[in-house]
Amino acid sequence: MQIHIYDSLGQIGVAAGLRVAAMVAEKPDCVLGLATGSTPLPLYNELVRLYNDGIVDFGRVRTFNLDEYAGIDISHEQSYHRFMADNLFSKININPANTRIPNPSPQDIAAECAEYDAAIESAGGIDLQILGIGGNGHIAFNEPGSVFPRSTHLADLTEDTIEANKRFFASADDVPKKALTMGIGSIMKARSIIIIATGRSKAKAVKQMTSGDVTPLCPASVLQFHPCVTVILDREAAELL
Ligand code: F6R
Repeated sequence: MQIHIYDSLGQIGVAAGLRVAAMVAEKPDCVLGLATGSTPLPLYNELVRLYNDGIVDFGRVRTFNLDEYAGIDISHEQSYHRFMADNLFSKININPANTRIPNPSPQDIAAECAEYDAAIESAGGIDLQILGIGGNGHIAFNEPGSVFPRSTHLADLTEDTIEANKRFFASADDVPKKALTMGIGSIMKARSIIIIATGRSKAKAVKQMTSGDVTPLCPASVLQFHPCVTVILDREAAELL
């Protein structure tokens, strides 16, 4: 793991954005794995800036998002479909047909999950995966548990995650309790990974991820086994390193 620590969210956006831009320059039809939540916003703002400045062309880029709340209406303002449209896709020249996010209300959940994994495979796999990390060490919605889930699946959100995400909803009761999420196996197949963490609430998980035991109790710790991971932190998230 290569660890980089920055003073501001602006610098984090630039550091991550330039890495994504380099990938797109090198491989214009690359496959990006994308995350939602507060953490990637400086990155997405930077990608929009690079696009507006004519530096990056997303015309042939393909994307797969990590996850979506099960059962949420895709027009709901907290759906990850809306998040991606509002914060990135509507602001760059990506082809909507080249963007995939798990369907929150499939007729057959197992078939949707299998089809999602198959679509990633047939796109050639993910070249660069963007991740955030939960305060409990989750990546995507792979919550601390007794096994590392291999592939896309329906996951139960833990109380910690519902608590952390209630800031986006009217109350904790309104946070969906399940999500469709790429598995640890799907994430580990990505050829390169950037994981970003900001704020003191992530410091313990960052410490466990980077130097703790590799254990499903901290799902992000599995990234120690990946050959190409860049960790981008602010000083608060890095304070226990
Ligand atoms: C989002 C995702 C989650 C978040 C994590 C951190 O697509 O997969 O694992 O990355 O919960 O969320 P924020 O960035 O809101 O602190």
